[in-house]
Amino acid sequence: MELILDSAVIEEVEEIASWGVLDGVTTNPTLIRRSGRNFEEVIRSIAMVCSGPISAEVTGTSASEMVREGLDLKSRLPENVIIKIPCTPAGLSATRSLADQDIGVNVTLVFSVAQALLASKAGASYVSPFLGRVDDNGGDGLKLIENISETWKNQGITGCKILAASIRSVHHVEMCARLGVHAATIPYTIFTELMENRLTEEGLAKFLKDWEAVRSEGRA
Ligand code: G3P
Repeated sequence: MELILDSAVIEEVEEIASWGVLDGVTTNPTLIRRSGRNFEEVIRSIAMVCSGPISAEVTGTSASEMVREGLDLKSRLPENVIIKIPCTPAGLSATRSLADQDIGVNVTLVFSVAQALLASKAGASYVSPFLGRVDDNGGDGLKLIENISETWKNQGITGCKILAASIRSVHHVEMCARLGVHAATIPYTIFTELMENRLTEEGLAKFLKDWEAVRSEGRA
């Protein structure tokens, strides 16, 4: 499963990239706003440390605006930027147009199997179901991920990856991997929690203490 960081904070991207496990980065207007920095500056600085796909979202609402923005972003930003487009009828049309020009598109704000299917038909490279927000609204986000995964398998869809988004817990990440999802975009705090385990910390502390004893006995 591709491990993607959902962040527009360069320090967070640098830290996770330094672990050697970062496959890409997703941003959205909310994350850019929270970063307090200039949109293009953020994307360029992420591209300095991440060679995988970096999603940059369009903000136009008509198909022609989205296509214009997408082409403009592709012409100005680093090669590995892909265009993030909302799952609306205009978004599908823009996805088709950009995909026909060999531009990678991540269709975002997907909340049903039907929307995911349409996005893949329109030529999206990634579809992003928002599982946490489904949970927030009384649904079952992981069930949605499972249903989309099953649909992909049964339909033999290969050109479009399922990118689980709106992830809220380590459990979400583990379940996405178990369900065979292609990619998950994970907020920084959850990414760091993936590595946390009390037994690892306690085990390491004991190893270090015992090694110190070995050294003080002059045996190392
Ligand atoms: O990638 C989409 C993600 O940023 C949405 O997450 O937590 O705002 O639902 P959230």
